[in-house]
Amino acid sequence: MIPKAMELAKQLLGEDTSGHDFHHTLRVYHLAARIAEEESANQILDLEIVGLIALLHDVDDRKLSPDTCKDLGRARRFLEENGISGLRRDMILNGIRQISYKGTDSEVPDLPEARCVQDADRLDAMGAIGIARAFAFGGNRNRAMYDPKVPPRENMDEAAYVQNKGHTINHFYEKLLLLKDMMNTETGKRMAVHRHAYMKDFLEEFYAEWDGLR
Ligand code: ADP
Ligand code: NI
Repeated sequence: MIPKAMELAKQLLGEDTSGHDFHHTLRVYHLAARIAEEESANQILDLEIVGLIALLHDVDDRKLSPDTCKDLGRARRFLEENGISGLRRDMILNGIRQISYKGTDSEVPDLPEARCVQDADRLDAMGAIGIARAFAFGGNRNRAMYDPKVPPRENMDEAAYVQNKGHTINHFYEKLLLLKDMMNTETGKRMAVHRHAYMKDFLEEFYAEWDGLR
């Protein structure tokens, strides 16, 4: 099941340049597995569910597949064709639905397995990889890198977050720097501290160079 889901993600996400390429999914899969393994010391986790939520979490992303993003049609079909139905299918689909970032409408997933994947997905938006993804996304959308005259927006709900078209530096204040305090697991919290500090250093250096000070 896991190798098949990996193949599907590879086929569908492939070389996407909006920040949802297959390598993002693969990193989230490995990070989620690592987080789940550490969390398993304190609770029983179903590692197949962790793996499937991670591998299928972006196949119906609204940017990649607007037609199936509401009903998670691609993930649903994959699960059903591979004999996962009923409660187990719904647990996985709900997990996928709950992990995504929605500004102030973000959810804490009901399933502990999904909470591991949410942390992994968010960690991949932080640190060096997160910085790279943010500017790749901004370039993909023709967004400015920075404009000191446009301040970040605060407390965006899901609708505002989705419609927002600000420059990429603002994305750090509107999402990336908020993620550290939204981690669910102890492992996630620990890893987030390091990645958060790295982003803060990056911003400090960015402003210094912008102002011609370094
Ligand atoms: P995910 O589906 O992985 O939770 P998103 O779909 O919100 O995350 O974003 C995918 C990647 O693109 C992430 O690294 C995210 O930080 C980045 N991204 C999303 N919106 C913006 C934006 N407005 N500016 C820059 N980067 C963005
Ligand atoms: Ni993702």
